[in-house]
This record gives sequence, structure tokens and C-alpha cells, in this order.
Amino acid sequence: MKILVTGGAGFIGSNFIHHILKTYPEDEVINLDALTYAGNLENLAAWKDDARYRFVKGSITDAAIVDPLVAECDIVVHFAAESHVDRSIMDPGIFLETNVRGTHVLLEAARKYSKRFHHVSTDEVFGSLGPDDAAFNEETPYDPRSPYSASKAASDHLVRAYFHTYGLPITISNCSNNYGPYHFPEKLIPLAITNLIEGKSVPVYGDGAQVRDWLHVSDHCRAIDVIIRKGKIGETYCVGGNGERENIWIVRQLLTALGKDESSIEYVKDRAGHDRRYAINFSKIERELGWRPIVTLEEGLRDTVKWFQENEAWWKNVKSGEYREYYEQQYGS
Ligand code: NAD
Ligand code: DAU
Repeated sequence: MKILVTGGAGFIGSNFIHHILKTYPEDEVINLDALTYAGNLENLAAWKDDARYRFVKGSITDAAIVDPLVAECDIVVHFAAESHVDRSIMDPGIFLETNVRGTHVLLEAARKYSKRFHHVSTDEVFGSLGPDDAAFNEETPYDPRSPYSASKAASDHLVRAYFHTYGLPITISNCSNNYGPYHFPEKLIPLAITNLIEGKSVPVYGDGAQVRDWLHVSDHCRAIDVIIRKGKIGETYCVGGNGERENIWIVRQLLTALGKDESSIEYVKDRAGHDRRYAINFSKIERELGWRPIVTLEEGLRDTVKWFQENEAWWKNVKSGEYREYYEQQYGS
């Protein structure tokens, strides 16, 4: 199978490419990535001279680049996006451009060449849960509340519209919060780990009692893999980690792992419109495709701390680049 991966130089996309090239000796990957602040070819250095892997620098919004790549692949696995909620609050425009218009350009090419299309989406399209609400599932109505989640919801709707209107063979996955290797250090877990290693504090938004359903990125990659090979065309699959925890619980685990105490926590102003709780009911993908998460949160966090300890050059490089300006704007120096 020849897979066109969009956004393959980012966090989940690069983990997915490692997974495919390691697991399937017959598969080939073309990685189309614009290399925004979040894209990093270092993540894929191991494959750069491998005949089964090819990198193309370009934007999913550019039909001239997208068209021939879609024509030569068997399937598009679409990760490319602006992915950070805080950035979408500061500057929503690029989220619409990439996440909505970019998805549309890809869908048009997939329609032209009748290609299989898998869209990687998020649980944030479902909105925010109260403490006693049932977890999100495939039937939950959409209720996005940030510019990021609204743009992802719009792209999900477009993908489904191409299935119903043109019969495009699509699948969609809506996944909860990932963590693991190559996670960009603007997100809670890698930001906390790297700040603690640097002797800085961890900014905790509001009261820190917001809940996320954490899933190790390797489990997410396995879920996408099973969907593109065995998933039913036109279907959506919710993917989660059985890993519901308050943010403050996560931060305290990381403090302990890195030998720090509560004085390293800094409670800061809450995120605007902050979703209180996400949780995923993944019984459909478990029942129909036999997938379930295998990495426990405790084990996954331990491994992730170790990965960041062993890959200081990777994140120090990321933190000293274009990202620095954003970080200082958010938190001061
Ligand atoms: P990321 O920000 O780490 O990576 C995004 C990648 O997309 C980067 O390599 C970037 O260069 C590339 N990109 C951005 N704009 C582009 C464009 N116009 N053309 C081509 N490439 C472009 O994101 P991530 O965390 O790896 O998320 C990947 C996908 O998974 C996103 O669609 C996101 O919505 C979804 N998702 C993420 C999570 C999570 O916890 N991180 C959970 C569920 C779903
Ligand atoms: O749920 C899936 C989503 O998870 C993905 O669709 C997004 O692409 C991904 O970025 C992630 O979104 P979140 O907003 O949940 O992730 P983030 O790591 O930014 O924040 C996790 C929680 O931690 C959230 O409640 C906000 C809080 N937080 C975050 C940061 C960066 C803090 O308290 N302090 C911080 O410094």
C-alpha cells in the first residue's frame, strides 16, 4: 500500500510513519508537510534514506502540489492541521485556512482520483462534558467551543459530505488527548516535563481540575492502522485511552517522576472558554475492529519522561526556535 500522509512531520504523523514503515515492509509512505513551527524532519531522520519513504515540502492548501501526490497513492491519511487550542484563540484565521480549506483541497483531489481517505480528527468536536455525563461516542452531537475544535468539526462535516454526496470512500477517527515521543512542547505534558528538567515552573490553567482522556500515541497509531485496513467505509470511530485524569494529577505525576515538589506549580489565568472534561467511549472500535489501548497511563508517562530525558537535544532545539516567541507571549520569559 502506498500511503500519502499529510502532516507527517508533526507529533502524531511522525509516530504514524514510524509505525507503518516498521510494521509493513511492503508499504510506502509519501509525507506531505508544510513544515510550520510544528513540523520537524528530525522526527523522521531514521527514514530519510529509505527507498520506501519520500518527503515533499508543501501545503495541503496548494492543489498543484496535492493533486499528483494523491494521484499516485492508494490512500490519504490526513493529519495536517493547526492543532493547538491556545494558538487558535490568539489567531483563528490560519486554523480555518489549514483545517477547513486544506481538507477541502485534499478531498477534491481524492474525489478526482477516487482515492480512499482517512481523516484524523479529535474528541474536541463534541464540546465539554459535566462530571457525571456519559463519555462521548459516535452518536454524540457536535458542539465545538474553540476556534480549533470548530475548524476540526467543519472539516469532519466536509469529509462526511463527500461520502454522502460523491460516494468518496472515507473513514473518520475522533481521538482523545495523545502524549508520547516527539510531542511538541507547547502542549501540557511535554511543556511540563521540559520545564521541570530546565528548573522552571509548570503553568496550570485555572484550578487544574479539567479532565482529559489520555492515550499513548502508539495506541492512536495502531487505531488508525486498523481503521485504514479493516474499517467500514463511511464510518466514524471514537478512539480513547481509558485514561481520564485531572490536569493537576498529570502534573503531580510528572513532579514526582522528576524529583520536584508543589513549589514548581504555578497556577495561571484560565484558558478562554476552557472545556472542562473530555472522555471517550471506544466500544465501537473495540467491538468491530478489535482495537483497545494497551499502554497504561502510568507506564506511558514513565516512558515519555524517559524519552524527553534522553532526547534533550531534540526539544532544546524546538524550544529555541520560532516557538520561543510564542512561549514568551504566553507565559513571559
Ligand atoms: P502537530 O501540530 O504536532 O503537527 C501538525 C503537522 O501538520 C506539522 O508537521 C505541520 O507542519 C503540518 N502542517 C500544518 N499546516 C500544514 C499545511 N497547510 N500543509 C501541510 N502540512 C501542514 O499536530 P498533532 O498533534 O500531531 O495532530 C495531528 C492531527 O491529529 C491533527 O489533525 C489533530 O487535529 C489531530 N489530533 C490530535 C490529537 C492530539 O492530542 N495531539 C488528538 C486527536 C486528534
Ligand atoms: O482532545 C484532543 C486534543 O488534545 C487535540 O485535538 C488537540 O490537537 C491537542 O492539542 C489536545 O488539546 P488540549 O487543549 O486538550 O491539549 P493541551 O495539551 O493544550 O492542554 C491539555 C489540558 O491542560 C487542557 O485542559 C489545558 C491545560 N493546560 C495546557 C497547557 C499548555 C494547562 O493547564 N497548562 C498549560 O500550559
